[in-house]
Amino acid sequence: MTNKIAIVTGGSRGIGHQLVLKLGQMGYNIAINYRSDSSETITNDLAAQVQKEFGVQTLVVKADVSKYEEVKKLIDSTVGKFGDKIDVLINNAGITNNSNFIDIKPEDYENLINVNLLSVLHATHLALPYMVDHKEAANIISVASIGGMMPVVNQSDYSASKASVIGFDRSLALELAPRNVKVNTISPGMIMSDMLAGVNQDELKALAQTIPMGHIGDVKDISSTMEFLINNEYMTGQNISPNGGVVMD
Ligand SMILES: NC(=O)c1ccc[n+]([C@@H]2O[C@H](COP(=O)([O-])OP(=O)(O)OC[C@H]3O[C@@H](n4cnc5c(N)ncnc54)[C@H](OP(=O)(O)O)[C@@H]3O)[C@@H](O)[C@H]2O)c1
Repeated sequence: MTNKIAIVTGGSRGIGHQLVLKLGQMGYNIAINYRSDSSETITNDLAAQVQKEFGVQTLVVKADVSKYEEVKKLIDSTVGKFGDKIDVLINNAGITNNSNFIDIKPEDYENLINVNLLSVLHATHLALPYMVDHKEAANIISVASIGGMMPVVNQSDYSASKASVIGFDRSLALELAPRNVKVNTISPGMIMSDMLAGVNQDELKALAQTIPMGHIGDVKDISSTMEFLINNEYMTGQNISPNGGVVMD
């Protein structure tokens, strides 16, 4: 039986859903977080699927990760079920407002910053005591975006949140390298998920045509990157961007 433990924030749908499947395949027991009532069934089904297919244990935790006390509930219940060791934290939960900045309501950009940025700080802060100084390196991986690396129209607040996540992870990697925790960022380009369903579909088609590789990415492009980052023992402080060639560093 495995004793490797992973947490995925926003594991119900889209990229997070696929990351949960991959972690199950890699043999992790997984705490799967979601927030919306409408995602309860899909998250429970995912947990059951992962248990059946890969023989690992799962824990489903409903929590709004923009709030410190709710993230505490997520971490405490994970440790309560699996023991006081966390091997992998995936900071994936995120939202977009798709709005120009002149018209946006302050409460909307404040909420976005809380979900996309503060959740990463909260989850990392609360999980870290269970991640440092293991014999085998622990992994923190945040899902940022190419929006944090290049300008994107109607995504100013989103870009601010994602550029901040990239900066946070890089400095944290420096602090945690001596304590055997690797910290890396994945900055996806356009990936087919519910998040893109909210974007104007004509704009989306036009955008897809500007991608050098000619198509929108798949959630598996992100899970394979996560697998690589976890398995690579010498990679920390990096921002890896599966984006079809839109941004080349
Ligand atoms: N899709 C893309 O093109 C793309 C590109 C670059 C970066 N990203 C990033 O990738 C990550 C995943 O995006 P996605 O495309 O998979 O989006 P998605 O399909 O809309 O899924 C978002 C996930 O985040 C969860 N979530 C949202 N707010 C939350 C909160 N306050 N507390 C807990 N969970 C919350 C949702 O939970 P519920 O199901 O409960 O609502 C859902 O599981 C995000 O950080 C996003 O910014 C996506």
